[in-house]
Amino acid sequence: MKPLKQNNHMLTRRAFIASAMIGSSNALLTAKWAFGQSNLFERSLPIPPLIDARSVANKISLIAAEGRHKFFPNQPTATSGYSGAILGPTLRFHKGDEIAVTVENRLSRHTTVHWHGLLIPSISDGGPHNLIAPDTSWQTTLKIDQPESTAWFHPHPHGDTARQVYSGLAGMVLINDGSSERLGLPRTYGADDIPLILQERQFNSNGSLRYDDGPQTTMLGARGDTIIVNGVIAPVARVPVGLVRLRLLNGSNARTFDLSFSDARAFHVIASDGGYLPSPVRRTRLIISPGERFELLADFSDARSVLLETGADQFIPMMGMMSGDVSGAAQIIKFEPDPTKLAPIKSIPEKLSTISGIGKVDGLRRRQFVLNDHMMGMRSRNRGLAINGRQYDMTRIDTTVSLGSSEVWEVESGMMAHPFHIHGVQFRILSIDRRKPPMHLQGNKDTVLVPGSAEILVHFSQRATREHPFMYHCHILEHEDAGMMGQYVAT
Ligand code: C2O
Ligand code: CU
Ligand code: CU
Repeated sequence: MKPLKQNNHMLTRRAFIASAMIGSSNALLTAKWAFGQSNLFERSLPIPPLIDARSVANKISLIAAEGRHKFFPNQPTATSGYSGAILGPTLRFHKGDEIAVTVENRLSRHTTVHWHGLLIPSISDGGPHNLIAPDTSWQTTLKIDQPESTAWFHPHPHGDTARQVYSGLAGMVLINDGSSERLGLPRTYGADDIPLILQERQFNSNGSLRYDDGPQTTMLGARGDTIIVNGVIAPVARVPVGLVRLRLLNGSNARTFDLSFSDARAFHVIASDGGYLPSPVRRTRLIISPGERFELLADFSDARSVLLETGADQFIPMMGMMSGDVSGAAQIIKFEPDPTKLAPIKSIPEKLSTISGIGKVDGLRRRQFVLNDHMMGMRSRNRGLAINGRQYDMTRIDTTVSLGSSEVWEVESGMMAHPFHIHGVQFRILSIDRRKPPMHLQGNKDTVLVPGSAEILVHFSQRATREHPFMYHCHILEHEDAGMMGQYVAT
C-alpha cells in the first residue's frame, strides 16, 4: 500500500489544519454503545433475500418505507428499508433482459432510486430529477446490457441522500451473464457467494440511530464507532470449508475501510465495481471507499475461524483527533467454517476476463474536475463543498459530452481524499497520484478514491438528456448533498 505511506505526510498536514479549524469545539460526540463482549460475533449474518428477476417474470416491485429493526436485543431502532425494515432484497438481473421496476414511496419524504453501476440511460435511472413523492410510485425499465458484476441501488434525492441511506435504504444488485458458471466461481447465494454490505453507524444510548447535523458532519461525512454488516453489529457468518466468494459493498456515508483478515491470510480480488479483473489479484489488504464494490475469494479451507478487520480510516483529515473510535480500527465480522460443509469450488481460476487494454489516450478530450473542500472559517454549512468552484445546481448543466465518445477526466481532491463517482459509465483508472494504479484497480470502475489526484478514462455509452442529466459527485454522501456534485448531458 505505497500510496498510503506516501500520503502520510500530506495527511498529517491536513490533520493539523482540520484540528486547528475545529478547535476545541466538541468534534463528534460519541455515545459509544456499551454492549457486552458476549454479544460480539454471536448473531448470524443475515443474508438479504434474493429476488432472481427471472423468477418473477422480470417484474420487480420495491416499497420504500420506514420500519423498526433490532440492532440491539429488546430495543428496536427506527430505520427505513426497501420492502423490509432495513436495506432491501438483493436483485439478480440477467444480461439481455428488460426489467420492469415499480418503486412505491411510503416514506414521509421525497425519494428516488438510483441504480449505481448500471449502464442504463439517465431517463431510466433515479437521479435527483426522478423524484418520487410520498404515497406515489415510479415505474422504470432497466435494460441490462453489461458484464457480470455487483452493483447496488440507493436513494438520490438532492439534499436528502445522506440521511435516507443512513436510515437504511440500500440494496445490492447482482448482474449475471453466465460467467460464474463458465469460470467455475462460487455462485450459491448466501452459501458460498456471500453479500457483505459494510456500513458505519453511530447509536444513541437508547438504541436510536444518531445523525449529528452540523458543520463537522458536513465536512467529514456522517461517521460512527459501530460497523454493521447487512444491518447487524459484529455478526458471525458460518461458511463452508474451502473457497468462498465475498461481495463487498461499502455502503457507508463517509467511511473508507482498510480491510484485512485477523491472521493476515491472503485473499484474491476477482472483481471491482464493473466486473471481473483479467485475473485474480492476490492481496492481504484492501481499501474500499464509499460506493465501491469488490468481490474476493476467501480461503477457509483450514477450517479455522477468522475475523475480517479494518484499520482506521486514514483518509480523513482528523486522524486521532476525533473522540472515541469514530472511523477507527475495528473487527467487522467473524467467519466460522462449518466442518460438516465443504465448499463446492476448490480452485481459483487463472483467467477471469478479457477486458481490453488501455489504448492510446493522447488525442482524447481532457477535462479537469477540482473537488473543492475548503471549509476553513466556514459559517454556512454548505460553503466550500463544490466542484470547480460551483456548488451543485439542479438547473445547471455543468458538462456536455458526446454520446459514444471517450474522454480523460482529471480529478483533483483538496484537503481530504474523496471517492469520485460517475453515473451511467464504467471507467478505467489511468493514474492515482500520478502513478499507475495497483492491479486490483485496473479493471472497470465507477467510483475511485482520489487521495490527491486521479486520471480516469471514461467511455460514455448511455444517453443523458437536459431533463434527466447524469451526475458525477463525491460519494461521501454529506459532500454530495452539500454540493460536491455536477451534472452532465450525453447526446
Ligand atoms: Cu451511488 Cu450518485 O451514487
Ligand atoms: Cu451512482
Ligand atoms: Cu468528498
